Amino acid sequence: MAAVYEPKAKRAKFADFVQQIEKAEQGASEGPRGMGYPMNFNEIGELAELRNINSRNFICNNCGDPFNTAEAGWKSNTFKTEASLLQQLMKPWGGNEENCWGYLTTGGTEGVMKGVSAGVRRLSLLHKNVLMIYCSQAHYSIGKAVHMLSGERSGSKGTIATIPPNVKGEMRLDKLEEVVAAAPLLGVDAILCVCTIGTTFMGANDDVRGVRNILAAHGFTGDKVYMHLDAALNGGWWNLDPSTPKYQLGSDFESLSISGHKWYGGFIGGSVYILKGEGLAEGKMVKYVKMVDKMISGSRPGDTAVLWQARLYQFDWEEELARCKDNCRFLVGELEASFCFSRFVRVLLKVCFEKRRCVRYCSFFCFPACQFDIQNSPCQAPKRSNLFSCLAC
Ligand SMILES: Cc1ncc(COP(=O)(O)O)c(C=O)c1O
Repeated sequence: MAAVYEPKAKRAKFADFVQQIEKAEQGASEGPRGMGYPMNFNEIGELAELRNINSRNFICNNCGDPFNTAEAGWKSNTFKTEASLLQQLMKPWGGNEENCWGYLTTGGTEGVMKGVSAGVRRLSLLHKNVLMIYCSQAHYSIGKAVHMLSGERSGSKGTIATIPPNVKGEMRLDKLEEVVAAAPLLGVDAILCVCTIGTTFMGANDDVRGVRNILAAHGFTGDKVYMHLDAALNGGWWNLDPSTPKYQLGSDFESLSISGHKWYGGFIGGSVYILKGEGLAEGKMVKYVKMVDKMISGSRPGDTAVLWQARLYQFDWEEELARCKDNCRFLVGELEASFCFSRFVRVLLKVCFEKRRCVRYCSFFCFPACQFDIQNSPCQAPKRSNLFSCLAC
């Protein structure tokens, strides 16, 4: 008899679980959202139907290269949408199908990993001693990528250099100059540098052209240099803002990664764009999935391409940028008036706060444990009414 009842009991567990998740979702969507960690929640409810349609009766697996024109190994995929989306996203950075290759990643970290990996491979084909440079304010994924790609040991052997930041959180060019000037004396014959367009906490943007000029002044040009831009945070809106320097693939940088869940929002994902050339493929043709293995991940969710493309169609993004900037100004005004905060700084789309030890304050803004000297809040999603109630409490 037990065997007869068991499936029902299992169904009941399934139904219970669905209910439990539904309740958790309702709870999570009640309070103020998206402060402290930059994820755009604006009108994500509009994506619900698409999410459902897209995975109702099949699961799309984009295991493979979206730009591969041969027959795909995995039949249920969204490669076409992915390739078209990538073309739209790479265009403002000077990328097109002729000069650029890319794919949708699981997030910012995979984009960094792939960009840095392509750079290490490319430089190592011609050079023996590649120095990898990044700013100590850069996201932890950069340190992870360079250490992993150096066999985890080389930090102590002098092939990785970290440059301190200035007060704004940008890579210090005077310190970079010292390191680059000394590099040839240490036998370095090529440099891979990672610059950040929007550091996680201060929203700082490294001076990419300034960095490149220093490298060039010490002979690191052409095939002796590779620059990856970690634009996880600011890459989405960078080219919509007239005040930003417009960096171009092939002259200012060799690869770029942009996060999907931050500026665009509504899904978790990222993207990477790499100047075509050596070092892209991780391996040979893998027969059973009919692809040359160029990606870091194997199976990749096909829904990311659909949701990201839908998100692009959903808003006029220049208006979205103006709305977010206005939110930022509003927040600064409220903070000034509230006397709650003694110091804060507005950096394009971010507001940085002085560190506080108040638990209530931290939990409202989703700050982990107040470990940082300056905390930040991008002003993309929170409703103004929520902000008032917080400041009033
Ligand atoms: C500047 C920067 N780079 C990379 C990442 C890594 O992104 P992910 O968490 O999507 O892997 C982040 C995430 O916060 C980031 O802020």
